[in-house]
Amino acid sequence: MSSGTTKIELVLNALRTVQDPDLKKDLVTLGMIRDLQVHSSGQATFRVVLTTPACPVKDLLKSQAAAAAMTVPGIESVEVTMDAEVKNRLSTTAKGLPGVQHIIAVSSGKGGVGKSTVSVNLATSLALDGARVGLLDADIYGPNIPTMMGVTENPKLTVHPEKGEVFIPPTSHGVKVMSMGFLTQGDQPVIWRGPMLHNILNQFCTRVEWGDLDYLIIDLPPGTGDVQLSLAQMLPLTGTVLVTTPQEISLQDVRKAFNMWDKVKVPVLGVVENMSFFKGDDGKIYRIFGEGGGDLLSKKFSTRLLAQMPLLPAIREGGDSGRPIVVQDLNHDAAHEFRKLAREVAREVAILNASSEASTLEIGAFH
Ligand SMILES: Nc1ncnc2c1ncn2[C@@H]1O[C@H](COP(=O)(O)OP(=O)(O)O)[C@@H](O)[C@H]1O
Ligand SMILES: [Mg+2]
Repeated sequence: MSSGTTKIELVLNALRTVQDPDLKKDLVTLGMIRDLQVHSSGQATFRVVLTTPACPVKDLLKSQAAAAAMTVPGIESVEVTMDAEVKNRLSTTAKGLPGVQHIIAVSSGKGGVGKSTVSVNLATSLALDGARVGLLDADIYGPNIPTMMGVTENPKLTVHPEKGEVFIPPTSHGVKVMSMGFLTQGDQPVIWRGPMLHNILNQFCTRVEWGDLDYLIIDLPPGTGDVQLSLAQMLPLTGTVLVTTPQEISLQDVRKAFNMWDKVKVPVLGVVENMSFFKGDDGKIYRIFGEGGGDLLSKKFSTRLLAQMPLLPAIREGGDSGRPIVVQDLNHDAAHEFRKLAREVAREVAILNASSEASTLEIGAFH
């Protein structure tokens, strides 16, 4: 055995002391260490392949991995490259859109709570972290994603050898965007119902050439009616992010939404409480719509309160101008909050995925 091999083993052993805090296993066991080399100069180089580019503990893991490798005698320097591969090991892939790893629905019990605002900032934040992201505006009654994403071109129609005519979605802020808004004329209200609606939704889901995506975010129509159920059953959803405001009325609607998701067996990844508070010029916090609703709700339904977003003119302006606040003003507190939210969502998806993988392995062990 050459001394190089031994060193590689020593570095690997050292890396076994670094745990992924969410997946509760070490980086080597998780198969995250790749291309490990120890050069004659005493430099160790390797890649850490995370389960999502939007990993909230990316920087921490990078420094811990580097520090662990440095403890090995003879290692003079360490170069760590952070990378990610988003995979879907859930059963949802079976009937999935090919090439799309995770479909995440943004839903709400009622309209006007900021569902579209959360969708655009979530999608854009994931893209800013390096993920491949699509955003499907399935809110057929109020398709305003194109405006909020500042999309000016229409999708291109092209002929796919197997699927026939398909739409190529335009890209904005690094996100592929598809919306019913592209297919309707100006201010005409959408009045499709029943089978026609189902048909349109189906086309919408299957006739878009998304290519390879890590995450497809869907802005669902508000409420808990047929359209939501159709969509939830038609699409292999990994989970949903529920948006609410703190008022009781909206919470009652969210309770209904929880029940609906439970019925169709789609996991709720967590709750976003939007318009939680307003910070005055005096720095004082005003809880305009009441307090603690999201917190209560997440406890009652044993899910996480992922974020509490302030009521803020800059958030609305970001939507109106087609430049979400996370691109408009990267240093704004609210932009940080949205970036954090996106990482929390990615974390929940990664945990869900890992737990499913673990149960598959356990089942496999019996055969
Ligand atoms: N946190 C917020 N602060 C300020 N305005 C917001 C916030 N969230 C949403 N809005 C604004 O409220 C309106 C409704 O939000 P929208 O995202 O369209 O809701 P929904 O999709 O649930 O109907 C929009 O004009 C949006 O810009
Ligand atoms: Mg909306």
